[in-house]
Amino acid sequence: MKYLLNLGGICVLLVISFTIFACSKDDDSTPEPPTPIIVSFDVIISQQNSLRVTVNNTSTGVNGLNSYWQFTENGPVVSDQAGPEMHLYDAAGEYLITLTVEAPDGDIQASEIVTVTDDNEMHPALKDATDKFSVGMAVQSNRMDGQHGDILVREFNNLTAEYEMKMNIMYPSEGNYDFTAADAIVDYGVTNDMDIHGHTLIWHNAIPDWVDNFSGTDQEFEDMIEDYITTVMTRYAGEVRSWDVVNEAIEDGSNQLRNSVFRQRMGDDYISKCYQFARNADPDALLFYNDYNLTFDVGKQAAMFDIVDDLASQNLIDGVGAQMHIDIFFPSSAQIQSVVDGTVSRGLKMHFAELDVRVNPNNDITSFTEARAIAQQNKVREVVEIYDAMPDVNKFAITIWGMRDTETWLIDFWGQPDWPLLYDVAFQPKRAHTGFLEALED
Ligand code: G3I
Repeated sequence: MKYLLNLGGICVLLVISFTIFACSKDDDSTPEPPTPIIVSFDVIISQQNSLRVTVNNTSTGVNGLNSYWQFTENGPVVSDQAGPEMHLYDAAGEYLITLTVEAPDGDIQASEIVTVTDDNEMHPALKDATDKFSVGMAVQSNRMDGQHGDILVREFNNLTAEYEMKMNIMYPSEGNYDFTAADAIVDYGVTNDMDIHGHTLIWHNAIPDWVDNFSGTDQEFEDMIEDYITTVMTRYAGEVRSWDVVNEAIEDGSNQLRNSVFRQRMGDDYISKCYQFARNADPDALLFYNDYNLTFDVGKQAAMFDIVDDLASQNLIDGVGAQMHIDIFFPSSAQIQSVVDGTVSRGLKMHFAELDVRVNPNNDITSFTEARAIAQQNKVREVVEIYDAMPDVNKFAITIWGMRDTETWLIDFWGQPDWPLLYDVAFQPKRAHTGFLEALED
């Protein structure tokens, strides 16, 4: 080993010596083998614009090495930056994407052929299929970017927070609000020119512990509820233009009012008090009453319309939200039509809220069959046809309760497999999506 080397060499020699010294210091330790260089990348085609791809360098052993992209064969070089890169093609076709890493022993490349279609060749967007009502999606604040965001922006013009605009999330402790997630959802909706449906202010299943165990007087409880409703609705006035003020106040079976803490502390007229608080807080907001099983449970439907009629007599309600947690067999079109007829006859807005269509209600399948996919397509088409047949003045929105089948609340709730929504796990539209569009074809 020569000692008379130029300065760089001496540095190199010293470094090498250090390395050798480090290595020889402990004769039986052997230097770690260099991490092999493996060049790879992911490519995702945008749901919002099928001419746009996002690529992500997933190579290993390349720290400190330069790399670059080519989005067509022998096309222009685009330096690889940290994080995903996007590329917009100007025409449909097959393109070779190549990632090149400039390794010490020469360039190493990975390539993939991607097929992009033109946006017009894709299915029309749900929201573009009608201008008579909005098409809504239940969202969670951590599912509004990437492919979730692409689909939301392309397909929907109404958002409902699946759980983050409920009392237990927005008002976790007395006097302390947490609007972080709600603000994110509302800001996203406003930014993307979407309506936002506020769900839900008063619900027995979303009560923070401190409210359940409220130690003050009944009047102090009522004042706290008025302050909560006023604070929330004032915050989002002009942005959240409709609210489920009270959700699911009617007990199953008995069709009496649930004995919630709201009823216990504020009395049987807690509902009209809450709607008055809401009307006072934002006179421009549309106020809905929302509940489930309103299509086939005639007792519950009657109890609901009694509540609605009482609120309407005080000009405290504008619409009914019928949660459409249904399945391919049930309820019948006549049962669905019955809640529509009662709402329309009262001159109120109809919200088909929380639509999901179970294909496995009897737990007799373990995979999503073509037959069940077709049945789901037919049921979705039937629901949307019923909705679209309503007078335009009563139309408001149909809201789908979740994006991908794997994200539905139903699997945990029923503890069995199901595929109730419009998109599969790969964000691809299903037959059910087609059924929605078929119902709105001229
Ligand atoms: O995302 C958090 C996660 O970060 C955390 O680790 C985990 C454990 O705390 O909680 C996760 O949030 C859960 C959320 O669903 C997302 O999965 C909440 O705890 C859970 O309470 C929430 O459940 C929601 C439920 O309402 C209660 O708010 C369901 O998503 C939602 O589908 C369901 O929707 C209701 C309607 O509001 C009213 N009609 C019935 C319908 C079904 O119950």
